[in-house]
Amino acid sequence: MEFEPKESVLKNGMTCVIRRAEAADAERLLRSQKETSGETPYLVVTPEEIDWTAEEQAGRIKRWNAAPDKLRLLAEVDGELAGAAIVCGAGFQNRLRHRCSVDITLYQKFCGMGVGALLLGELLSAAKAAGYEQAELDVVSTNTPAIALYRKLGFEAVGAIPHAMKYQDGSYADFLLMIKSLLG
Ligand SMILES: CC(C)(COP(=O)(O)OP(=O)(O)OC[C@H]1O[C@@H](n2cnc3c(N)ncnc32)[C@H](O)[C@@H]1OP(=O)(O)O)[C@@H](O)C(=O)NCCC(=O)NCCS
Repeated sequence: MEFEPKESVLKNGMTCVIRRAEAADAERLLRSQKETSGETPYLVVTPEEIDWTAEEQAGRIKRWNAAPDKLRLLAEVDGELAGAAIVCGAGFQNRLRHRCSVDITLYQKFCGMGVGALLLGELLSAAKAAGYEQAELDVVSTNTPAIALYRKLGFEAVGAIPHAMKYQDGSYADFLLMIKSLLG
């Protein structure tokens, strides 16, 4: 998907640029994926599972940018990478093509500044413009900041998956399934 960069001033006065990830971002993006996944228990992936190279990441970004149904956006705050968000189709079959999945992760130090709302807002606008009718996500049921962000942007909880994630210590986390209509 194409995306025109957007610049905004955050409530703390810092400047936030939302733009599409490009192949040149591969190394920085890979580092941030490893670092951010180690900062929170709420993500599915763990740092050691991010085992691909910057070259492979660059290839993936190029393929995504060439695809009409996929987008990876980055948020930069005063020039520093704050986080990323992705949208992709829920399935390749014709009967699933109206649905998309979204995902967002920021560095903890950039949380609570309004970056998540800006980044996800832009991603959802781009998803709607690309023809998606419904955005979907799952979120750990105790991830209060994320659930608050999703509700603020119009997502509703429609169900749950008990024991969706199992941690190394044997404990579990449930997923809440959330949906937002992009119609209208
Ligand atoms: C979830 C996440 C993207 C939210 O982004 P953020 O930039 O912190 O959110 P924002 O500052 O834009 O806040 C948007 C709204 O969310 C809510 N919110 C944000 N932080 C919150 C907190 N700590 N507690 C409760 N509500 C919170 C508020 O309603 C806020 O709106 P308001 O500013 O008008 O009050 C971010 O916390 C994050 O990346 N967390 C780690 C990774 C993660 O959990 N990703 C989601 C996986 S499903």
